[in-house]
Amino acid sequence: MNSMWEMLAGLPNQYRWAADLEPPSVPPTSSALVCGMGGSAVSGDLAAAAVPTALVAVNKGYSLPGWAGSLRPLVIAVSYSGNTEETRAAVDEALALGLPVAVVAGGGVLGDLADQRSLPIVRVPAGLQPRAALGYLTGSVLRLLESAGAAGDQVEALGEASSVVAELWGNGPSGPAAHLALDLADGLAGRISLIYGSSGLTAAVAVRWKTQINENSKRPAFWSVLPELDHNEIEGWPGLESLTRRAMGIILLRDRDEHPRVQRRFGLTADLISGSVPLIGEVWSQGTSRVARMAGLALIGDILSVYLAEQEGIDAVPVDVIDQLKVLLNEE
Ligand code: PA5
Repeated sequence: MNSMWEMLAGLPNQYRWAADLEPPSVPPTSSALVCGMGGSAVSGDLAAAAVPTALVAVNKGYSLPGWAGSLRPLVIAVSYSGNTEETRAAVDEALALGLPVAVVAGGGVLGDLADQRSLPIVRVPAGLQPRAALGYLTGSVLRLLESAGAAGDQVEALGEASSVVAELWGNGPSGPAAHLALDLADGLAGRISLIYGSSGLTAAVAVRWKTQINENSKRPAFWSVLPELDHNEIEGWPGLESLTRRAMGIILLRDRDEHPRVQRRFGLTADLISGSVPLIGEVWSQGTSRVARMAGLALIGDILSVYLAEQEGIDAVPVDVIDQLKVLLNEE
C-alpha cells in the first residue's frame, strides 16, 4: 500500500473527480441522513457543514434516529470498504422502513447490495485507507445532496476545493500546508492535542483533525467547540495545571465567517487558559466556498498527523487496533 504522503498527494484530484462526477438520480428530498463510521462518517460532517441551508444530519451508529421514520430523509450510507457493520445495520433498518437509500462505497457488501437492489450508488476508487479518501467521500455526498435537490450545484465549490488543496499541498513536504503543519507538530511533540473549532464549519474540521491524530499519529487527541466550551471546559483548566502544562497543546481552527462574538471569545478564551497550556496554535481556513475552506484546513491537519507519526518513527498507514477490534467482534 502507498505511504500516507502518497495518499494525501491525491486529494486535489479526489475533489476534482467529485466535481466531474455524474451523480446518480435519487428521489427528491429536503432532508438527508448520512450514515457511516470513522473516516467515512467524517465526510458527512464536512458535507453537512458545507451546505448549512440543507437539512442534513449525520448518524454514527447501528440504529437510525427515531425521527427518521416520520421525516423520511434520504439515507446516504457512506462506507469506503462497504463492509462496516454499523453502516450496514443502518441501511437494513432504512430499507425495512421503506426509506430512500443511496450508497457511497468502494465496493464490499454495500456495493453488492446496491447492485442487487438497484440502489443509487457512487462507487469511489478503492485501494486507499478510508480516511485518505476524504475528497472522494465528501464530494460524493455533496453531489448526491445536489442530485436530490437538497443542496444547490456543488461543481464549482468542489473545483475550488481541488484548487485550494492543490495550492496548499504545493510540492508536498515542502509546500505551504506542510510548512504550517511542521511548526505545529514541533509544538505538539510528545503532547496530547486538543483541537478547538467553532460551531458549524470548523467544528466539523476539528473532528477530522482529532481523528487523524488518533489514526495516523497513534496518540490520544480530543476536540471541542466554541462557544459551548466557554460554558464548561474553561473552568476545568486551572485544576491540573502542573499536568496540562507538560502534557497538552491546543490548536484553534479559525474561519473568517465566525460569529463576531465567537471571534472575540477565541481571543479571550486563549488568554484565560494560557497559563494552563503552553502551546496555543492557530490556523485559518483559506478559500471562498465552505467546502474549499474545510478541505484546505483538513489537509493541514492531515499533514500534521503524519509529522506527529514520523516524530515517533511510526508508519501512519496501518490501524492495527481498529482492525484487531473488528476481528474480535466477529469471533463468537
Ligand atoms: O479510518 C478508518 O480506517 C476507520 O475510521 C474506518 O473509516 C471505519 O472503521 C469505518 O470503515 P469504512 O470507512 O470502511 O466504513
